[in-house]
Amino acid sequence: MIGPFCAMRFPQKTAAKALSDRPDHVRHNTKSYYLKTFGCQMNVYDSERMAEALARDGYRETDDLEHADLVILNTCHIREKAAEKVYSDLGRIRDVKVARKRDGNETVIAVAGCVAQAEGHEITTRQPAVDLVIGPQSYHRLPELIAQAETTRKHIVETEFPGDEKFERMKAPRRVASPSAFLTVQEGCDKFCTFCVVPYTRGAEFSRPLVKIEAEARELVAAGAKELVLLGQNVNAYHGEGPSGRSIGLAELIRRLADIDGVERIRYTTSHPRDMDDDLIAAHADVPQLMPFLHLPVQSGSDRMLAAMNRKHTAAEYIDLIGRIRAARPDIALSSDFIVGFPGETEQDAEDTVALVKAVGFAQAFSFKYSARPGTPAAALEPQVPEDLKSERLQRLQALLENQQLEFNARSLGQDVPVLFERRGRQPGEFVGRTPYLQLVHAAAEGEFVGRTARVAVTETRRVSLSGVIAAA
Ligand code: SAH
Ligand code: SF4
Ligand code: F3S
Repeated sequence: MIGPFCAMRFPQKTAAKALSDRPDHVRHNTKSYYLKTFGCQMNVYDSERMAEALARDGYRETDDLEHADLVILNTCHIREKAAEKVYSDLGRIRDVKVARKRDGNETVIAVAGCVAQAEGHEITTRQPAVDLVIGPQSYHRLPELIAQAETTRKHIVETEFPGDEKFERMKAPRRVASPSAFLTVQEGCDKFCTFCVVPYTRGAEFSRPLVKIEAEARELVAAGAKELVLLGQNVNAYHGEGPSGRSIGLAELIRRLADIDGVERIRYTTSHPRDMDDDLIAAHADVPQLMPFLHLPVQSGSDRMLAAMNRKHTAAEYIDLIGRIRAARPDIALSSDFIVGFPGETEQDAEDTVALVKAVGFAQAFSFKYSARPGTPAAALEPQVPEDLKSERLQRLQALLENQQLEFNARSLGQDVPVLFERRGRQPGEFVGRTPYLQLVHAAAEGEFVGRTARVAVTETRRVSLSGVIAAA
C-alpha cells in the first residue's frame, strides 16, 4: 500500500517503443531513468505522462538505480510518514550518485510531486545531491529542465502554478500499461479541509475541457484500454468546458465517454460528498458502463469533528446521501477514507464514527491516524490527540471495517461475476482482474485473458481478494 487510494498499480511498467522506430536524435540517447511513485492515483497518472515524455526523448526505463542516469521521485506530502520517506530514499540515492561519479558517470536526481511543491528549496537544502525540484504543474518543462540540470550542475527549483494546461503541452502519445487506464480530468481542490495539504500542493480546482478528455480517452482505447478511471483530487466537482462552450458536470462527461466505442467500464475517484449531485446519482442508475462502486470519503462520523475539519456536511447528511445513491443503484459498493485522532477528538466522537460505519456498511475503506501537516489550520488546533490513543482508536475502527469487507466479499461466494482481467498473476496460468465492485480476483485459465472480460465462478473469498474459475469469456 503506497497511498490513500485503492487500485494502485506500482511500480509502473512502461512499454518501451522499439528503438528502430525512433528518430535519429532519440536513437542516440542511450540514457536510462529510474522513476518511483508515491501517493495517490493522480501521481501514478503524472508518472505515466512523464515516462511517455522521456520515452519520446529516447530514455529507457530501468529498475536498477545503479544504472540510472536520471532518478525521479514523484512524491506525496499527505502525511508526515509519506514525506519523510522521500528523504530517507534520497539519502540512499545520494550514495549511489557518489559511487557512480567515482566510476565517471553523472546522475541527475529530480524530486517531483507534492513534496516538491510544498517544500521547494528546502529539499535542496536538506539534500544537496538533488539537482531538480519540480512541482506537479510544471511537468511539461521536465525534458528542458533536465537538460538544464545536466549542463549547469546548479540546483533548479520550479514550483510555479502557471495556470496553464500542462497536459496539453506534454505531447507524447498515450500508452497503456494495463487495460484499466487512469485519465486525469480535474486537478486541485478548493475545499480546504483543515487537515489537508492538497489545496496548497495542487492549487485551485481546474477542469480539463471535454474535447481534450474525449481525445485522450480515444487514444487510450486505441492503445488497449477497456476501463477508464477518471481522476481528480475532487473529481465530482468537475465542471469542464463542454459543447458550444457551456460548462458540463461529471455526469455529462461520463455519459459522453460511455458513447466512445470500446469503453467497457468507467470509474471515477475521489469524490466529495458535497459534490454528489442528482445528475451523478442518476448516472449510476442509467449508464451501464459506470461501475457500481463509489469511493466517497467521510473522514468522521462526529458532527463536531466534521465541522472542525471543514467538511461542510453532517453525519446524517452523509447517511441520507448514501440512501439516495442506494435507491438509484441498490448494489453499489461503498468505500471511504477515515481520519482518527483529529485534534479535540473524544471517545464519544470516535464512537460516532463507529456508529456511522455500522449504519452505512462499507465494501472497503482506508483509515489513517491524523498527521499534523505544517501550514494547515488543524496543525495549530488544541488539544492534539496522543499517539497511543490514536493507535487504539484506529485499531478499533479498522477491525470493524475489515469485518465489513470480509462480509462484503463473502457474499460473492458461489456467484458468477464478470471480471476484467488486467494482468497475469504470479502462478503459471493465473490471471488477475477486478469485478464491477473493484474486488480483486485471481483465476486460473488456459489461453490469454489480459484485456478480456470473462465470467468467473467464485470459489473462495478472503478479505482483500476472491478466487475462482473462469466460466465463460
Ligand atoms: N480529495 C479526497 C482525498 C484527498 S487525500 C477527499 O476529499 O477526501 C486522501 C485521504 O488522506 C483523505 O481522504 C484523508 O482521509 C487522508 N488525509 C488527508 N490529510 C490527512 C492528514 N493530515 N492526516 C491523516 N490523513 C489525512
Ligand atoms: Fe483535501 Fe478536503 Fe480537498 Fe479532499 S476535499 S483534497 S481532503 S481539502
Ligand atoms: Fe499525496 Fe499529492 Fe496525491 S499529497 S495524495 S500525491 S495529491
